[in-house]
Amino acid sequence: MLGLQWGDEGKGKVVDVLTPGYKVIARFQGGPNAGHSLKFGGDGFVLHTVPSGIFREDSMNIIGNGVVIDPVILMDEIRSIEEKIGPISGRLQISKRAQLILPTHRMLDAASEAAKGKSKIGSTLKGIGPTYMDKTGRNGLRVGDILSPEFLQRYEALKTKHLGMLAQYDFEFDITEYERKWLAAIEELKRFDFIDSEIAVNRYIDDDVPVLAEGAQGSMLDIDFGTYPFVTSSNTMSAGVCTGLGIAPCRVGKVIGIFKAYCTRVGSGPFPTELFDETGEKLRRIGKEFGATTGRPRRCGWLDMVALKYAVMMNGVTELIMMKADVLNSFSTIKVATAYELDGRRLDHFPFECGENVTPVYREFKGWDCDICGVRDYDDFPAELKDYIAFIEQETGCPVSIISTGADRSEIVIR
Ligand code: IMO
Ligand code: MG
Repeated sequence: MLGLQWGDEGKGKVVDVLTPGYKVIARFQGGPNAGHSLKFGGDGFVLHTVPSGIFREDSMNIIGNGVVIDPVILMDEIRSIEEKIGPISGRLQISKRAQLILPTHRMLDAASEAAKGKSKIGSTLKGIGPTYMDKTGRNGLRVGDILSPEFLQRYEALKTKHLGMLAQYDFEFDITEYERKWLAAIEELKRFDFIDSEIAVNRYIDDDVPVLAEGAQGSMLDIDFGTYPFVTSSNTMSAGVCTGLGIAPCRVGKVIGIFKAYCTRVGSGPFPTELFDETGEKLRRIGKEFGATTGRPRRCGWLDMVALKYAVMMNGVTELIMMKADVLNSFSTIKVATAYELDGRRLDHFPFECGENVTPVYREFKGWDCDICGVRDYDDFPAELKDYIAFIEQETGCPVSIISTGADRSEIVIR
């Protein structure tokens, strides 16, 4: 299950809705840059590192090797979940191969962004980039290392290296307090099982236990295929499931792609269908488009079919889930970009050059102009919404199997 746009597609809610069908929910990439919102029984919850199946009693939740973990954020998250539902150490396991985000990784992220000035990426500043750099640079510390007698020594060595790098920047910082919390969180984390998650996940698959891989971010933020350099530092696409959990491509079954009925992006970078007018404001207001992790207002615009088709192609999406259809309730006209214009040429595929130079070519749809929030049956949808869905299915070649009509767990139409 993955996001097909620039993140914030509603992955948290979808996992929560789908989990009754899955015993195991595993995160395969990203880290606390993610903010997955769940809402049930009037309560809201935002998860950053813990898989979104955690609130289902009979689920096993695995943080896979492809994930980067900040122990402080993870323990805070665990504490607030446990306040609500009691101990969860029986249903949360962590890969020994997952990388640790150090306090100095966060500082390096902040220093690097500050130095970029206007060309900053708009990172969540959780230390994601520097941690993945240490992973590929073969310097990282992993969860399994926590149990080693040399852990503190290795931590100090890496920290010292980072302090040397930080000295290159004109950047002031103090990690004393965060480091204290970090070391305490490392100790607390030891009450959870650190496992060889690739073995565990493959055993589940051998035993026909359904496993749901929960993506973070979205395809257009993928390190290889997103709008580089305005991307995150991991492979957010289905290929990331293989490397981030240790599953062979032939063992991946359904690929569930999630998209919003319109588009948003938070942080900098190309966004061809972005609206700078009243309509964009309206989408933000009705869609409550403010970051779950950083609180930043999200940039809003129309659905981008060029980008969506690109994501569907590379993920091998087998079914689509459309989120936040209800946000469009009061729009009399809805637009979808079906092509781009670039240097006088018309493009129907997502180009390397995608930037401010790209102009979307729109197709207009008549809005449904009524409230769909209470609808539970596809047949009861207004004809205009059915037309919109049919168009998306025709363009992408994928069925839209679920349509979300509100934030709550119950506000959903399953076909
Ligand atoms: P979920 O899982 C939306 C964006 C940041 C920034 C870029 C790089 O909730 O959909 P990073 O912190 O990874 O260095 O930031 O990626 N970004 C997200 N945008 N949703 C997310 O996660 C995101 N995670 C990172 O805003 O532009
Ligand atoms: Mg989010």
